[in-house]
Amino acid sequence: MTTAPPRFELAHLAHAELLTPDLEGSLWFFTELLGMRETARHQDSVYLRCYEDPYHHSLKLTAADHAGPGTLGWRTTSADALERRAAALDAAGLGRGWTTGDIGVGRTFAFDTPDGHAMELVWDVEKYVAPPELRSPILTRRSRRPLQGLPPRRMDHVNLMASDVTAQKELLEQTLGFETRERVIDAAGGGTEIGAWMSVNNLGHEMAVMLDQTGSRGRLHHLAFWYGVPQHNTDAAELCREYGIQIEAGPDVHGITQGAFLYVFEPGGNRIELFGNSGILQFEPDHETVTWDLGDFDTALAIGGATLPVETYFVYGTPVNAGQEKLVRSVPSR
Ligand SMILES: [Fe+2]
Repeated sequence: MTTAPPRFELAHLAHAELLTPDLEGSLWFFTELLGMRETARHQDSVYLRCYEDPYHHSLKLTAADHAGPGTLGWRTTSADALERRAAALDAAGLGRGWTTGDIGVGRTFAFDTPDGHAMELVWDVEKYVAPPELRSPILTRRSRRPLQGLPPRRMDHVNLMASDVTAQKELLEQTLGFETRERVIDAAGGGTEIGAWMSVNNLGHEMAVMLDQTGSRGRLHHLAFWYGVPQHNTDAAELCREYGIQIEAGPDVHGITQGAFLYVFEPGGNRIELFGNSGILQFEPDHETVTWDLGDFDTALAIGGATLPVETYFVYGTPVNAGQEKLVRSVPSR
């Protein structure tokens, strides 16, 4: 079973868990400012979804003593694909075994990436069905657009920091069928890979891996939510200014992925990206990886010239390293 080609065996990022030391503040950010709806609570976790997310939840917020990524869940394209990818992960020595799932999530196969990020694969999920009061007459929409805040339509992608980009990238390519659409190398530094932007579907990227310049392992750079409308990033920036949420960078557009970005820090300390367009989509079956060079990087970072702060953007991730705590100071002004 493990000899089957991995491509098209994963469908998309289905759910993500964020750990937060300030559950109340994080909940305020995601429900009041971003208009996400709560679908369940259990023990120390709250389950949330955007109004066009397809399943029971996309985001699980879990109270913890530190910020950071919990488990990231990828849905496979079939039940058989799940079995095949689980076998491939086991063969690569990364599998942690089967779980009984979670609220809205069936049996999963848990694994760790080479850099130590916790992930799982799932086929059986609970598709969201809105109660009568939340149904939309727009039948392609899973639930009515919320009235509060500035709601993104769905969760979009995740960006991970890794101590070794190449090891993480190659394993994800070989076991799970990710394609690397773009990457950054340091040509002057011997060609070390600084970042890779990967996808299992038509999105320009659904997972990015960037070099953790602090040498830490298994950290989160950001989790992104999709507006699809660049103006919304400017509107979101206004709300963040007015309601105490620290903006790190943007709105602008990366050359890499052509993604319209706004980076902010939710009150728990995790970096969140609001994604104002769809970036470049990819339809070519034989697309070749685009390589950017760190030595000629301005366009790659921000087409409009926005500054990505060196004191945070390239070194701050969650869990937060000792000494970085004061870099983030989002305090909701309700
Ligand atoms: Fe991103």
